[in-house]
Amino acid sequence: MSRETLIDLLYLFSATTFLLALKGLGSPKRARAGNAVAALGMLVAVVATFFKYVDGHALHHVGLIVLAMFIGVIVAVPTARFVQMTAMPQLVAIFNGVGGGAAALVSITEFVHVRATHPATYVILEVLLGVLIGTVSFAGSAVAFAKLQELMTGRPITYPAQQVINALLGAGAVALIVATLVTSSSVTLWALLALAAVLGVAFVLPIGGADVPVLISLLNAFTGLAVAASGFTLGSNLLIVAGTLVGASGILLTRLMSKAMGRSLGNVLFSAFGSVVTASAGGGVEGRAVRSGSPEDAAVLLSYAARVVVVPGYGLAVAQAQHVLRELAEVLGEKGVEVVYAIHPVAGRMPGHMNVLLAEANVPYEDLIEMDEANSELQTADVALVVGANDTVNPAATNDPHSPIYGMPIIHADLAENVIFLKRSMRPGFAGIDNELLYNPKTTLVFGDAKDTLTKVVAAVKAG
Ligand code: TAP
Repeated sequence: MSRETLIDLLYLFSATTFLLALKGLGSPKRARAGNAVAALGMLVAVVATFFKYVDGHALHHVGLIVLAMFIGVIVAVPTARFVQMTAMPQLVAIFNGVGGGAAALVSITEFVHVRATHPATYVILEVLLGVLIGTVSFAGSAVAFAKLQELMTGRPITYPAQQVINALLGAGAVALIVATLVTSSSVTLWALLALAAVLGVAFVLPIGGADVPVLISLLNAFTGLAVAASGFTLGSNLLIVAGTLVGASGILLTRLMSKAMGRSLGNVLFSAFGSVVTASAGGGVEGRAVRSGSPEDAAVLLSYAARVVVVPGYGLAVAQAQHVLRELAEVLGEKGVEVVYAIHPVAGRMPGHMNVLLAEANVPYEDLIEMDEANSELQTADVALVVGANDTVNPAATNDPHSPIYGMPIIHADLAENVIFLKRSMRPGFAGIDNELLYNPKTTLVFGDAKDTLTKVVAAVKAG
């Protein structure tokens, strides 16, 4: 078997592992294994590439490549290991941006490389698309990171004629691509690079913090497409397969997230959602009464329940209360109370946020139920225990056609006999709007950090 055939077979193996990994990532039980399989495939692909001959030459600058990889590992491994779950979206943003930037750099070097050989127009077009998409992804991800890391305001930044200006920037990029195809000039290539960076920034500025995770998923899809474009340029089937998988799965995920928020992708990208905050956003509607209770009151309600549906949200991640929540479920279980966890698809700040958080606390997968099943369970539940969720249980999404979240499918915690709501204040959730459920006569609010409150509830249940 020739060296080229062996390398192609290894690449085929890697491509297969990527497909298996995607399948694994579709279920919480197999997600870890899926990740490991993809990592193995990537390792095989990287090692195989070192033995590849390009145009009859072995790989150049092996020392520099290994050094760059070493630096990448030193930076990325501790960053990924020690990141807080609440900071995961910005980590994904920056990793994604780096991928897009790398694809753009590969395309630029290929432009210099292939230009001298007077290649077919489509080859240059692939290179230019790689530069455009990769740079938009890099610049856009950098702004998304800054928004999520609160290095700049998370609110949408808008200015007059913004969409017209963005359309003109897009048209300018197309014009520069045509000019570069006609002239093969590196001047227009650098101009394209600069314009793509401005376009990436301008595209992301009007998108509000709550919508940034959807945007990151879309930029991730862009990076995949840029990588696939590099694959065409370099004649690498593996890059084409891997890039296309990232592009397709990123687009599917973007659509799923928009749907779970009850919004169209166009609305997420162009409506500057979150720029207007309702009058009550600072802390509830003045003069309206709510019923608040102590952790001990909550413990009594929970201990006498037959069935409890826990609705976790972003606040659970902020409080890092997942372990004590599992402990509460265990002590309630010992008293014969059945406890399940209702998972809204966009609870938290990224897809699967609650699943990962609860898995970290060893909550059994079987106890997690999805939104539709949860809504039928809630009809017969004695208590809905809302832990740091807000928008995802807000009845305005169903009842108020003027609400910005109208149309978003929600978990109907209000169907349960009693609602216990754990939060620190009357402040709203990510969408910045008041929640009618807080004023519902069924609801008991227990104010405080979710971890502190749950610790007290566990103690009271044990003592009771
Ligand atoms: P949110 O609506 O953001 O509400 C979180 C609640 O947690 C807040 O009301 C906050 O109230 C409370 N909280 C924060 N820290 C707390 C702590 N230490 N202890 C107790 N409570 C605490 O959460 P959600 O229901 O999970 O909804 C997610 C939102 O993000 C939705 O609007 C969704 O559309 C959006 N979003 C999600 C995604 C994905 S993929 N997950 C993507 C894009 C957008 P206090 O400040 O009063 O404590």
